[in-house]
Amino acid sequence: MSIGEETVSIDNTRHAPINGKTKVIVLMAWPADHIRTPTFFNALCAERGINAVMVPWAVRPEHLSDAWNGLRFVDNLAGVVLTIPHKQAAAALCDSLEDDAARLGVVNTVRRNADGTYTGRMYDGVGFVDGLRNQGVTLESQRVLLLGAGGAATAIALALARADVGALTIANRSPEKAQQLAQLIRQHAPHARVEAGSTDPRGHDIVVNATSLGLKEGDALPCDVARIEPGVVVAEVVMQPPVTPLLSAAAKRGARTHLGERMVTAQLERFVEFLLDTEVRS
Ligand SMILES: NC(=O)c1ccc[n+]([C@@H]2O[C@H](COP(=O)([O-])OP(=O)(O)OC[C@H]3O[C@@H](n4cnc5c(N)ncnc54)[C@H](OP(=O)(O)O)[C@@H]3O)[C@@H](O)[C@H]2O)c1
Repeated sequence: MSIGEETVSIDNTRHAPINGKTKVIVLMAWPADHIRTPTFFNALCAERGINAVMVPWAVRPEHLSDAWNGLRFVDNLAGVVLTIPHKQAAAALCDSLEDDAARLGVVNTVRRNADGTYTGRMYDGVGFVDGLRNQGVTLESQRVLLLGAGGAATAIALALARADVGALTIANRSPEKAQQLAQLIRQHAPHARVEAGSTDPRGHDIVVNATSLGLKEGDALPCDVARIEPGVVVAEVVMQPPVTPLLSAAAKRGARTHLGERMVTAQLERFVEFLLDTEVRS
């Protein structure tokens, strides 16, 4: 059973008008083939009459700082949105970091200020938690297994700890990174029960795939799906394909599945407010 609709419904036929006053947001990724966020963002701008456009840029990691520094001189650039593999490197290139970005040293949303400086924030964690709550999933007191310890997992771990989950287990291919992440989260959320552990989903109420497994055809599953019990919520961060092999296998086991795209659609209004200084949230 999927939680909510299968995929987020987007009217692709509507576009915001593009003219000399259009604010531009660049989404940097490498590779960029899987990118879907501009479709969601541009549909929101068209719907709300906001004169802004998001475009994907495929930027190799070794060229990030050149691309980044050039953009400082583009006056109608509202900001940069970053995804795999740029979140950590971009944080180091920002002139200032706020909130979770300052705590964790990763950014996904960077505003270009009028003087050409950059201010970074990290909305992945709050977007993930909002996405689950928007679909009626309760987090308080739940036992959560988080698979992965990279940029997305780091932000999600802190947001889950703040959402008062009962216990959080972090499992990662490189186990030392799971241990470091658990320690970091305990520092920032001392009340939370957070441990590094195995990828075994048995005994958990919510399983989150925050690895990049599922993005490429033929990827292994991030955990043993046969150990997922019926009724468990299985949530993705991978957005492409929308229904990953993990979600499809978990649904067959009677799990409640949650699409990766909900994490980004829950962040769109925050992008608008921070990058364009425009109130849109009701
Ligand atoms: N839906 C959204 O809004 C949203 C937002 C952000 C990211 N994402 C998606 O989240 C995924 C992760 O992004 P990220 O920025 O966190 O990347 P990242 O920092 O590079 O982290 C990648 C994670 O995946 C693990 N991993 C990679 N290959 C693996 C393999 N073959 N076997 C087991 N584990 C493997 C890594 O383990 P090691 O530490 O051992 O390398 C690490 O934990 C990407 O697919 C990205 O597109 C989605």
